[in-house]
Amino acid sequence: MFITLEGIEGAGKSTQLPRLCCWLEGLGLSVLVSREPGGSPLGCQLRPLLLDARNRDLTPESELFLYMADRAQHVRRVIMPALAAGKVVLCDRFADSTVAYQGFGRGVDLEQLAAMNQLAQAGLSPDLTLLFDLEPEVGLARARARNAHTGLGEAEGRFEALELDFHRRVRQGYLELARRQAWRYRIVDAAREPDAVFEQARAFIAAALAG
Ligand code: TMP
Repeated sequence: MFITLEGIEGAGKSTQLPRLCCWLEGLGLSVLVSREPGGSPLGCQLRPLLLDARNRDLTPESELFLYMADRAQHVRRVIMPALAAGKVVLCDRFADSTVAYQGFGRGVDLEQLAAMNQLAQAGLSPDLTLLFDLEPEVGLARARARNAHTGLGEAEGRFEALELDFHRRVRQGYLELARRQAWRYRIVDAAREPDAVFEQARAFIAAALAG
């Protein structure tokens, strides 16, 4: 089973991933936790280019091609082999991030994006996508506080530095995707306390595993 976690900055995906992984392993399942960008050795080299706030000159098109390179490599070298080995793959962001951020956020044509994603994904689509949804004001405040705490504001803060309207468009994009592809989307209320968020996410995954 291929499960992706999506959402705006500060939605708490990265906090919940290890907990969800532990719970799944407790059920006796073999789990691979990964992320985009940065889920393969090539991706680890691309991630700093994509997230460094000092990289202000990156055009939307260059940004898009870098995310696509990250995904094409990640799908073929990491995710597909793990699924073939019978693992559950839990991935922090996947193709829907491109639609939400580069499409709805930056304004890249959605049909062109879909065609590029198709090539990068090699026919692979998530079985379940959890959308961690919350107000961008709240998410951004959380993400900026985290970056200040970890000292990663410059190195990983390129998107956190963008204006609130950008993040509002990204959130709307996600909600639109969830509406269009309701069969694989479940919306988690990410404004709640971490324990409540975990319980909701866990219940959605449990239902998908049972189905
Ligand atoms: P994160 O791993 O801390 O969530 O940071 C990844 C950032 O990259 C986040 O701001 C969303 C952005 N992103 C895109 O814009 N497009 C994509 O396709 C992906 C995977 C991520």
